[in-house]
Amino acid sequence: MSDADKFLYGDRGINNPLAQADWATKKLVWIPSEKLGFEAGSVKEEHGDECVVELTDSGRKVKVNKDDIQKMNPPKFNKVEDMAELTCLNEASVLHNLKERYYSGLIYTYSGLFCVVVNPYKYLPIYTEDIVNMYKGKKRHEMPPHIYAITDTAYRSMMQDREDQSILCTGESGAGKTENTKKGSAVLSHGELEKQLLQANPILEAFGNAKTVKNDNSSRFGKFIRINFDVNGYIVGANIETYLLEKSRAIRQAKDERSFHIFYYMLTGAGDKLRSELCLEDYSKYRFLSNGNMTIPGQQDKDLFTETMDAFQIMSIPEEERIGLLKVVSAVLQLGNMVFKKERHSDQASLPDDTAAQKVCHLLGVNVTDFTRAILSPRIKVGRDYVQKAQTQEQAEFAVEALAKASYERMFRWLVLRINRALDKTKRQGASLLESLILPDLRSLS
Ligand SMILES: Nc1ncnc2c1ncn2[C@@H]1O[C@H](COP(=O)(O)OP(=O)(O)OP(=O)(O)O)[C@@H](O)[C@H]1O
Ligand SMILES: [Mg+2]
Repeated sequence: MSDADKFLYGDRGINNPLAQADWATKKLVWIPSEKLGFEAGSVKEEHGDECVVELTDSGRKVKVNKDDIQKMNPPKFNKVEDMAELTCLNEASVLHNLKERYYSGLIYTYSGLFCVVVNPYKYLPIYTEDIVNMYKGKKRHEMPPHIYAITDTAYRSMMQDREDQSILCTGESGAGKTENTKKGSAVLSHGELEKQLLQANPILEAFGNAKTVKNDNSSRFGKFIRINFDVNGYIVGANIETYLLEKSRAIRQAKDERSFHIFYYMLTGAGDKLRSELCLEDYSKYRFLSNGNMTIPGQQDKDLFTETMDAFQIMSIPEEERIGLLKVVSAVLQLGNMVFKKERHSDQASLPDDTAAQKVCHLLGVNVTDFTRAILSPRIKVGRDYVQKAQTQEQAEFAVEALAKASYERMFRWLVLRINRALDKTKRQGASLLESLILPDLRSLS
């Protein structure tokens, strides 16, 4: 058995006559357990709606209502690859099967059309070129469950049936949606456009991902990737749509969380020349970085800055545009350093020190007098006339925060647009589509 086989096939131990006999004589069942979810037991007595069940592990006897009992599958279904095959299809059996497979290193399991993935949080030798090839052109049930089987089946169905295909990735934060999307798309051979499509990932992740308490590389936006193929099955173009960027993260972060990666990549990775061009300061100077220079274990922000800039290069996005993006990132940070006060004899906000405003305006190329006036006493339209409206300190603070969030979001949208322009190679006619939608846990987005 090769190293990879262990993580694909495992040992199901299904031809164990002892286990079969045990299951048949003991009336094995699952009962709810506060600690473990469900525990295995054997039904000893039955009285009307109640049963006495002896727990397999502790030998303890408990009384359980019959409705709370879930049937256990016979041992031939141990670590079954497709849970649609289970004789007793209940929650306890599904969870038990996923757990048993996971403990044997098997992270992929089918459930009918779905592929359930449990995050291994460690490197598994199942994503090599050889394994990609093993899955090519195979039917779904000829091979053990794998993300490659999902993408290859979609690709083949698209070619054979001449129909658009879509793949939906969903799960809680940290489940592995992003990783599996990246691994799955590796199946689509290696032309120039495929390379560019893969390079879109580090760029989007730099600007749209952040460390949260659940995931060091959490996508703070949803995305819809559309890949166009010609009649011969070659990629001719791709398009990415993004949704719901969590823009509030640009101005404040919860305890133990970071802002978007690019802030740290830029502040740690920019050389002296770029630092002065971007008016960068020390981490401690920025109010919008709530937790200062927080680092991620095993991650070098400095190297990732270089990697991100290289990805821009591969996408043919020129240096001038890259710097333009970084100027907006730096300006967003500077906006947080504008400190407003209340004027002595009125509620009017004032800006005693305009150093930060100067920097914002220098970076964005706007006039500093116009800018500060727009924040402190904006001109608003009343009926047909314009009047100057005095802003309070709170209103001015709210305005710069709103401006920072909106600027970051628009910069992100522009970036996606720019990436799409680079990926848009519709010279050849696209025939079919393969789509993938990553649906984040919407409750965690604000
Ligand atoms: N197949 C895998 N093999 C090894 N590690 C993995 C695998 N899948 C996920 N991981 C690990 O788990 C982390 C989180 O996965 P991922 O970023 O894909 O989650 P997600 O579902 O996209 O979460 P979010 O909704 O927060 O964006 C990855 O950074 C990686 O360390
Ligand atoms: Mg993600």
